Amino acid sequence: MPTPILYDCDPGHDDAIALVMAHRSSAIDLLGVTTTCGNAEVEKTTSNAIRILDFIGASHVPVAQGCVRPLARPLILGTADGPSGLEGSPYLPMPRRTALKQHAVDFLAEKLEEAPEPMIVVATGPLCNIGLLVLKRPDVLPKIKELIWMGGVFYRKSEIITPTEFNAFCDPEALKIVLDSQIPLTMVGLDVTMQVLIEAPQYEELAGIDTPLGRLVMDWLKFYEKLHRNSMGVGGAMHDPLALALVIDPSLVRTRPAHIGVDLNATYAFGATVADFWQERGEADNARIAYEVDADRFFALMFDLLR
Ligand code: BDR
Ligand code: CA
Repeated sequence: MPTPILYDCDPGHDDAIALVMAHRSSAIDLLGVTTTCGNAEVEKTTSNAIRILDFIGASHVPVAQGCVRPLARPLILGTADGPSGLEGSPYLPMPRRTALKQHAVDFLAEKLEEAPEPMIVVATGPLCNIGLLVLKRPDVLPKIKELIWMGGVFYRKSEIITPTEFNAFCDPEALKIVLDSQIPLTMVGLDVTMQVLIEAPQYEELAGIDTPLGRLVMDWLKFYEKLHRNSMGVGGAMHDPLALALVIDPSLVRTRPAHIGVDLNATYAFGATVADFWQERGEADNARIAYEVDADRFFALMFDLLR
């Protein structure tokens, strides 16, 4: 039986690849997509989500638009994906359908409420929608079996201000609300996602996928790689695809539990995530952090789904 999921995202090239994987995996039943601001304004991430889903034959998957800005501060956009949030594929048809009238938070609440069993929610953008869901509909939170979130960083250099990861930095108050919500949270942060990079062997593998989808992903990656190459000297990181892949195969990463806090006052670094692995502050663990990844197995899965 495929695992039903709800997917909250801000496409974004890496969100886009994760969306493709979610739709194409026979292990996943993609019940709906909700969008948030982040890599671009929410109107653009919504349009991008619909364009991608329609291109891959998933026009039946409902899309609900979410928060226009973070819960408690102005929106600072990501820079990796260009002004549209999905540069590199101007030929991708514009949306032929609109998003649902329902707000993302209400859509998530409704889907969770009607689910026969608690289900997995994947989030690969700032946590605005999930934070708002916690505030608006605490009654449905027990229906979230696990929230797999791409965000945070603990051990590595970051792409913004070390040690702050973009999704955490964009809406740290929403993250704090989620961390305090008791939703079972798995954090797939830069510690592992910066180990799944698109370099020469991956480009070669992708070049062998001579289909419209293969060429589209190649065009996305050529744009997406620029910022990574210029700022960190590495290829594009498959942040969001790795988080999504854990629905299919949780053993791709190793995780350890910890109490996670987030710096809301820029005491050290705004939006930085801090882990107490040893319960030194006497606070219960509130997340599991992915700290090791089998990159070869991840890429085998990703290319399988793109092929
Ligand atoms: C995260 O931020 C965005 O740029 C990516 O889509 C990913 O979700 C990485 O820090
Ligand atoms: Ca994202």
